[in-house]
Amino acid sequence: MKKLLNFKDIDKIKTIILNDGIIVFPTETVYGIGGSVYSENAINKIFDAKGRPNDTPLIVHISDIKMLDGIVKKIDNVSKKLMENFWPGPLTIILPKKENISNLITAGLDTVGVRMPENEIALRIISASGVPLAAPSANVSGRPSGTNILDIYNELEDKIDAIIDGGNTNIGIESTVVRVVDDVVHILRPGKITKEDIINIGLEVVDNMINEKIDINKKVISPGMKYKHYAPNTKAILVYSEDNEKMIAKINELSNENTVVIVTTKNADKYNSKTLIMGNNLEEISKNIFSTLRKADKLKADLIIIEGVKSEKLGTAIMNRLIKACSYNYIDLDK
Ligand code: TXA
Ligand code: MG
Repeated sequence: MKKLLNFKDIDKIKTIILNDGIIVFPTETVYGIGGSVYSENAINKIFDAKGRPNDTPLIVHISDIKMLDGIVKKIDNVSKKLMENFWPGPLTIILPKKENISNLITAGLDTVGVRMPENEIALRIISASGVPLAAPSANVSGRPSGTNILDIYNELEDKIDAIIDGGNTNIGIESTVVRVVDDVVHILRPGKITKEDIINIGLEVVDNMINEKIDINKKVISPGMKYKHYAPNTKAILVYSEDNEKMIAKINELSNENTVVIVTTKNADKYNSKTLIMGNNLEEISKNIFSTLRKADKLKADLIIIEGVKSEKLGTAIMNRLIKACSYNYIDLDK
C-alpha cells in the first residue's frame, strides 16, 4: 500500500499536516480525513477528497483542552460539564466559533463542532503537530464511514497524502453531536454517548430531531442531515419488530434468491437467503455495521434487508444510521 505510514513516522506526519497536506487517521469512532484547521488548502482538499457538498461543516479535533482557546469564543457551564465527563471520547460539542476559524470548516455557521478523541494515535498526531485537525469521517460522501483502512483505501488513496493504520475502530459509528441551548442538551446526531449517559450526569436532554426525514429545502439545525448518508450501492430495506419471529417472517416474505440479509448472530440460520452477521449485541453491531454494509455491496445482491434493533441506548444511534443507510425504507412492524 502506497502512502501508508506508521504512527512512529510522526515527524513525517507532522510535516504533511504543517504543509497543507491531509491524512486518513484512526479515531475510536471511525477513521477521519484530517488537515490543519489553519490551512484553507488542506480544508479544500478534504472537501474534494470526500466529494462533499460545502454546506456540511467539519468537526475540529483537539488533543488538549487549552486548544479550545484558539477555536471557541466561550464555553457555557453545561458544555463544560459535558467535556469533564465525556472527553476524551466520542462526543462532539457545538460551540460559538472564533473569527479565525475558517468559514470553510463551519460551512458559514457561527458555531463550530469540537471533539477531543480518545484514540491514542489521533491524540499523538494532533499534539505532535500542535494544531487542531479538522476532519470529517473517512468515506466518499454518502457512503458508509470507514472503520478500517482496507475498506477506504481504494476510495481515498489517490486523494490524500498519507494513511495511518490503527486497525478496526473500536466503536464503529461516529460521535454523538450535541448543542446546548438554554442549559438543555440537544442531541443532533446520536452516538456511543447516549441520551441515558447524559441524563445520568444530571443534565436535561432533548433528542426529538434525530430520525426525522429532512425536507431538502428546509434549513436544518445540523447541516448534513438532509443528504444521502451511510448508503450501500445496493437497494436496502430495514425491518424491525420487538417480536423476533414476526421480524424473521416478514424478512423471509420480502426476500428473493438474490437477497442478502444482515442479521444478529442468534438469527443467522433463520433465513432462506444468504446472511451476513453484524454481531451479537449493540456494541458488536455498532462496531461492525459499516463494514458489513460494504461487504453486502460486494455480494452483488438485488436487495439488502437489515434486521433492526430496539431504539434505546446505543440502539438509538445504530437505528439512526440504518434508517439513513436504507434511505428511509424502514418497515416498523410494531407501528
Ligand atoms: O466520530 C466522528 O464524529 C467522526 C470522527 C472522524 O471524529 N467525524 C465525523 O464527521 O463523523 P462528519 O463530518 O462525517 O460528521 C460531522 C457531523 C455532521 O452531521 C455535521 O452536520 C455536524 O457534525 N456538525 C459539525 N459542525 C456543526 C455545527 N457547527 N453545527 C451543527 N452541526 C455540526
Ligand atoms: Mg460522515
